[in-house]
This record gives sequence, C-alpha cells and structure tokens, in this order.
Amino acid sequence: MENIKWGELGFAYYKTAFNVRYHYANGQWSKMEVTDDEYIKMHMSAACLHYGLEIFEGLKAFRGVDGKVRLFRPDENAKRMINSANRLCLPAPTVEQFVEGCVECVKRNADFIPPYETGASLYLRPTLLGTKTCLGVRAVDEADLIIFCAPVGPYFKGGMSAIKALIMRDQDRAAPRGTGDVKVGGNYASSIWSLEAAHEKGFSNVLYLDAATHSKVEEFGAANFFGIKNNTYVTPKSASILPSITNKSLRQIAADLGLTVEERDIPVEELATFEEAGACGTAAVISPIGALYDLDNGVTYDYGMKVGETCKKMYDHLQGIQYGRVEDIHNWNVEVM
Ligand SMILES: Cc1ncc(COP(=O)(O)O)c(C=O)c1O
Repeated sequence: MENIKWGELGFAYYKTAFNVRYHYANGQWSKMEVTDDEYIKMHMSAACLHYGLEIFEGLKAFRGVDGKVRLFRPDENAKRMINSANRLCLPAPTVEQFVEGCVECVKRNADFIPPYETGASLYLRPTLLGTKTCLGVRAVDEADLIIFCAPVGPYFKGGMSAIKALIMRDQDRAAPRGTGDVKVGGNYASSIWSLEAAHEKGFSNVLYLDAATHSKVEEFGAANFFGIKNNTYVTPKSASILPSITNKSLRQIAADLGLTVEERDIPVEELATFEEAGACGTAAVISPIGALYDLDNGVTYDYGMKVGETCKKMYDHLQGIQYGRVEDIHNWNVEVM
C-alpha cells in the first residue's frame, strides 16, 4: 500500500503506477499495453487537438467493507463510450475490451485503491483520442484508448451537504440535436464560461435549461437533475442530456424503495413543487440541492440546506452497494480482486 494521506485527497490528478492503452490503426485495435509513462506522444496535427475528436468516461472502483475491490457498472460506461465514439465517427472499443482495460488498470494500481474506512475511492478515466494527422475536418481512423486512474477523496468530507446553484440562461450547454447526450470534451469546454460566471456570483453550480425554449429543466452542471415529491422520483428526459449511470441506478433504487419513477419533461415552474432536489453523478453520487436561484426573474426555489430524507436514503443505498454493505441484487458490481 502506498504511503498516501488518504484523508487529504480531493478530486485531482494523482500519479499512480500504471496506465492501460490500446491503439487503433489499419482497421483494428492493438493488444492491451501497460505502461508507467504518463505522457503521450502524438502528431501536432492530430484530430483530437484541433477538432475536438475526443471522448472520455468516468467510473470508480471501491475497496469494500469485506476487503474486496469492485468496479461499479463498467459495462454501462463501455456502452456510453461506444455511443460517444459513434457520434464522433471515432473507432469504438468493444464492451469486453473496455471492461478488461478497466479491470487491468485497477489491478495494476492496487496500492492506490483507498482503504475502506477512508470513504475514498479509485477514479478511472478512460479517454479515447482521435490521433490521425489531419488539416481538414473529417472522420479519422486512428485512435488511442488510454485508461488511467487516480485515488480520490470522498466528495463530502464532513458528511453530505446541500449546495446553492444558479439557473443559467446566458449560455446553453448543448443544442437539441447536438452532442449533449454523449461524453465529448467539447461539451465541457462550452460549459466553462457558465461555471465561472456562477462561481463569481457565489454559486457552486448551474442548472441548464433546454436550449430551444428555456422552459424545461435539463442538466445540472456535469450531473443529472432529479426532484422528489409525493413519493415520486422525477428526472428530466431529453435528447441533449448525458444519460447518467448514477441516475439510471437511482431510478432502479427509487423503484426498489417503493417510489414511483418518472422520466419526463420538467417545466421550470415545476421546480417550486419539489420537496427535495438533487444532482447525481459518479463524483458525488448525490449532491442535494439546497436552493436554486433564478436571478433573471427574481425567484428562489428553496429546498432547505438540511439534507432530505429520500436523498439520504438513496445515497446510503447506492454507496452501500458500491462498498459491499448492501446486497447487489441487480449485479451492478464487477469484482476485480
Ligand atoms: C454532463 C454530465 N452529466 C451527467 C453526469 C453523470 O453521469 P454518471 O452518473 O455516469 O457519472 C456526468 C458525469 O459523467 C456529466 O459529465
């Protein structure tokens, strides 16, 4: 085990021992390569550098209460990466290759998987880069798939806490038929301005509305939105939202816990009717939303800074599965070691 100050870890790059790579050329993927090199050498005219032909994934491995190490739903990340690759006409890995690469990355970096008691985890970042040289805009048939990892701290250091966010109308995250539903670097590049604007005003994140009409709730920063009311879990359905694997899992957990689940349009005004609201994603599982500020209209949707009961219950259940405390009845975990 590495001598790491686990308690001080945040969410940042941390050098580990190895990363896993595959190269695509001449119509096929290479065999897996394992390297300790943190750098990649590529041509200065590589497509990923100029035209954003780059996609990525994010998932975690957890050292459980029983000492076993589990990856959470890597097959779902694989399928999402395949969708992202298809959208950008990049060579796509197979599900088996993606999962095999993730498992190898975890095994090779076993000393960097945080101990159970720390509440920390190992974050994996599979990244697919279009590496072919190009000057004109076109699809490319050479790519690198690199899977690296970093130990990351628990998102909530002092227990779960609620956040305040801003409803964003100055900029949109994704166009109706754009790339919002796939995990391409460009989506994040276009969201930086909004995030900075929110930070400057003292908010920790932004809630985006649908780009066409600004009348419906869409994505919550780099996470999905959900609201709870009348024993119902409601989350927006839209072709420009990234299908969150955490949200998919929470929908199942909500159903298992006896809630009704609705995936549908959420008009902005409906924000006033939720008893609880939250953002969900791999990083935090659930970030409870304390208040949403609509500065353009002088309206505040106040859910209270005390973490809601349903958010807490769903969070505990999902983390329980990830850390091996709760039975994994849907077979989501892949046991690595
Ligand atoms: C834009 C966006 N939405 C939602 C999510 C949450 O997805 P997941 O639960 O798969 O981490 C992420 C994080 O990957 C994201 O970047």
